[in-house]
Amino acid sequence: MTTTCTRLLVNKGNIHECTLQEVPRLQEQDLQDGEVLLDIDHFAFTANNITYATLGDRFGYWDFFPAEAPWGQVPVWGFADVSASRHPDIAVGTRVYGYLPMAGQLRVRPGNLTASSFTDMAEHRSHLALAYNQYQFTAADPAYRPELEALQMLLRPLLLTSFLLDDFLHEHHYFSAEQIILTSASSKTALGLAFMLNHQRSVRAGKPQRIVALTSAANAKFVSGLGYYDQTIAYDQLDEIDASKPSVLIDFAGNGTLLAEVHQRLEGNLKFSSLVGAAHWDQRKGEKNLPGAKPEVFFAPGYWAQRNKELGATELIGRFARLWAPLAQSVGSWMEIKTAQGVEAMMQAYTDTLNGLIKPETGMIMRTHSK
Ligand SMILES: NC(=O)c1ccc[n+]([C@@H]2O[C@H](COP(=O)([O-])OP(=O)(O)OC[C@H]3O[C@@H](n4cnc5c(N)ncnc54)[C@H](OP(=O)(O)O)[C@@H]3O)[C@@H](O)[C@H]2O)c1
Repeated sequence: MTTTCTRLLVNKGNIHECTLQEVPRLQEQDLQDGEVLLDIDHFAFTANNITYATLGDRFGYWDFFPAEAPWGQVPVWGFADVSASRHPDIAVGTRVYGYLPMAGQLRVRPGNLTASSFTDMAEHRSHLALAYNQYQFTAADPAYRPELEALQMLLRPLLLTSFLLDDFLHEHHYFSAEQIILTSASSKTALGLAFMLNHQRSVRAGKPQRIVALTSAANAKFVSGLGYYDQTIAYDQLDEIDASKPSVLIDFAGNGTLLAEVHQRLEGNLKFSSLVGAAHWDQRKGEKNLPGAKPEVFFAPGYWAQRNKELGATELIGRFARLWAPLAQSVGSWMEIKTAQGVEAMMQAYTDTLNGLIKPETGMIMRTHSK
């Protein structure tokens, strides 16, 4: 066993600058009573993680795993094993799924222990959303399959947002729209939403909406080939949008120019405009006084908490689980999982994702060590 492990640090003021830092490998004697050491096995990395970095200051994403200024650690979703424990009820060898740094280890202070999960009660995380502080025991998760770990960490956090958006639109009767337009339509979160809208319209009453993809010219063929959307339009062909139909816009791109163009094209026919993502993270800017509905930020953890209160956790999770199975099956049929193994490969994959060089059909998994 080596005496050090490596973590990836990103400059919070310039996320293009990143570095690898070696830190001493912690052992049981470094823990305090009640603490547990997690050895991080592997984790997923998508545009969503870049958004955590882009919006880190605004939404507190840098606060989960602090580092010395100007550096920050980008949070990721992945799996880890308990390698040392000074908690009486958590055994060495326990495997968990949750929010992790791009690093070899994480020290946590488990609390709120149940048969299925614990919460990291570390002081510096106490102001952050519960959804991000909870760690699930894989042995107690009925949906867990070891062979599906890659799909789980790549898709579950994103598709929860897709699911909540689908629920939100349904709850609002789709704002009486006849078409739903998604930007960055090739992103996993957008594809998840398109799949769910498509899947649900066969079971929900009422007039089905047309689902429209807006995407890069290079990704248009892939997007239309999936069959999740009724129409696929490249960003340089926005005049193909049918502006005569009452519409909803769900924006995963966060590109100010694109947002303005779609608003200007649809004008009063844009009944609702939701800001969900910032996949085109380098082209964000404030857009004011756009025609049509005023863009509203959609923050998934906030809507989850609201629906959890209204429906109860069991019903809400049950609804998600019913959609997750067919969706994971569909996505599993086309997604190519790639693993960046070792810290140099991890840094390269980080930079490639930042620069939009990862193909939409690729699911990127990272591992700091060679297995
Ligand atoms: N609000 C929330 O709670 C919430 C939750 C989940 C996800 N999201 C957001 O949804 C967005 C999509 O996330 P994801 O993880 O699903 O993405 P992903 O699967 O990694 O999607 C990548 C897609 O984003 C676009 N893209 C990525 N990098 C780009 C770049 N540098 N320049 C231009 N386009 C780029 C491309 O789509 P096109 O060619 O189709 O544009 C690309 O296919 C993210 O901004 C994420 O934060 C928000």
